Amino acid sequence: MTDKSTTTQQSNADQPNAAQPNAAQPNAAQSGTFKIGGDLSVNRLGFGAMRITGDGIWGDPADPEGALETLRRLPELGVNLIDTADSYGPAVSEELIREALHPYDTVVIATKAGLTRTGPNVWTPVGRPEYLKQQAYISRRRLGVDRIDLWQLHRIDPNVPRDEQFGAIRELIEEGVIRHAGLSEVNVEEIEAAREVFPVSTVQNLYNLVNRKSEDVLDYCEKENIGFLPWFPLAAGSLAKDGSVLDEVAKRLNASPSQVALAWVLKRSPVMLPIPGTGKVRHLEENVAAASLTLTDEDFKKLDEVGKQEWEKNQK
Ligand SMILES: NC(=O)c1ccc[n+]([C@@H]2O[C@H](COP(=O)([O-])OP(=O)(O)OC[C@H]3O[C@@H](n4cnc5c(N)ncnc54)[C@H](OP(=O)(O)O)[C@@H]3O)[C@@H](O)[C@H]2O)c1
Repeated sequence: MTDKSTTTQQSNADQPNAAQPNAAQPNAAQSGTFKIGGDLSVNRLGFGAMRITGDGIWGDPADPEGALETLRRLPELGVNLIDTADSYGPAVSEELIREALHPYDTVVIATKAGLTRTGPNVWTPVGRPEYLKQQAYISRRRLGVDRIDLWQLHRIDPNVPRDEQFGAIRELIEEGVIRHAGLSEVNVEEIEAAREVFPVSTVQNLYNLVNRKSEDVLDYCEKENIGFLPWFPLAAGSLAKDGSVLDEVAKRLNASPSQVALAWVLKRSPVMLPIPGTGKVRHLEENVAAASLTLTDEDFKKLDEVGKQEWEKNQK
């Protein structure tokens, strides 16, 4: 599920002298808020719950207590948007979220369906409307909610007419099974086609400092006030190497390269809702601390330029 052309960098927090911005009290509220669908307010820095499963996003995590501890730490750190999917495990991520956090209080659980699992790292789209609806009913039950706050179509299935998939989503909204709906890995034309059928509240595409393929989708989302959830937001590719612009900014701000990459993503757009994922409390705290890291316009621009260059280089 991850783009092999970019890799997440080991953070400075793994090193003995690592420093964290505002480490005493990291809080996702420092990233500001966004209203999903115009009425569901969340702190912009969220959490991705794909990494709390086993290898290949398959089965139980190696450290179930660590996964539960990570989840329980989220509200304490002000993280109130958790992204998951029926297919993470499958079922494992939703089950752990329920065990750790039900009845959720102020935390918004956003889940997805549309990808089936037959083994580790195997993801096959199935978008038949009856299947999508069944999976939303199952997620609602598994999460223990009356209505899912945000449900996203994990992939548009190329083998099923897309309007049938969008129609199933409209029915789920009309039946009160889901409150808001979103899409994943889509282009602008697909978002516009979906908006003919149901209100698109969020879009979840691969996006980070060094993967800019969805720049036009992000601009569209910003114009239309649609929440944009970049997945793999921590990636910085080779930009994190010693002596790079990213490394220089990180050292000057006493932060890790992945924190700076996250701060850059957050500054890029007010509709940006990054969902960095981890099964480790230490990494979670480091990621949340990035919410208090303020980049100057000048640093933002410099990073933007080198990130774009890296992306273009990787396209050749
Ligand atoms: N819609 C889609 O198709 C799609 C696809 C992929 C992912 N997603 C969603 O997006 C979320 C994020 O995507 P992602 O997990 O691919 O990318 P990511 O959050 O950018 O990176 C996660 C990786 O970075 C490591 N990590 C996290 N924090 C770290 C830190 N502070 N220092 C060092 N390493 C750190 C994690 O390992 P540790 O566990 O060891 O910390 C994990 O290997 C997922 O959880 C999922 O909810 C959606």
